[in-house]
Amino acid sequence: MDYKQYVKIVNDWPKEGIEFKDITPLMDNGKAFKSAVDEIVEFAHEKDIDIVVGPEARGFIIGCPVSYALEVGFAPVRKEGKLPREVIKVDYGLEYGENVLTIHKDAIKPGQRVLITDDLLATGGTIEATIKLVEELGGIVVGCAFLIELSYLDGLEKLEGYDVLTLMKY
Ligand code: PRP
Ligand code: MG
Repeated sequence: MDYKQYVKIVNDWPKEGIEFKDITPLMDNGKAFKSAVDEIVEFAHEKDIDIVVGPEARGFIIGCPVSYALEVGFAPVRKEGKLPREVIKVDYGLEYGENVLTIHKDAIKPGQRVLITDDLLATGGTIEATIKLVEELGGIVVGCAFLIELSYLDGLEKLEGYDVLTLMKY
């Protein structure tokens, strides 16, 4: 499926110089959204996934339907101050800002096979931080899946050695 027809590009948002990729039209379209989720499920199928992990907020949108289809759990990675119990945290930079990501300390058991999902790979800061959290808890990252990769930002370089799926490249 040509998913790009469902992505709206918004110039200079949220900051000047950023070409924001709005995936809400894709989510609006039941067939396109299902097809995208199905492709990620297919990618994950042979990987014997124990749990899906996605970073707030758009990583939830992709990760939750994938975890439902795979019949495994979903563990949220959230910005600081959002998770109520004991967390581990990591600082990260992203395409337009800086932040801290956290995960509950007991979200992943050592040796669990983890699929990480997000809507977009830009500089790779978010995914790198998410991988760090998972690996610090002893999880094994067996795949990373995105709707969109911004090739001009070289985020893929941070994912060397990992199995990566992206449905659209810009
Ligand atoms: C966006 C996007 C990815 C990340 C990609 O999230 O959803 O998670 O940026 O950028 P990077 O590869 O340079 O890290 P954002 O932090 O804007 O928050 P949101 O998902 O809550 O909208
Ligand atoms: Mg995000």
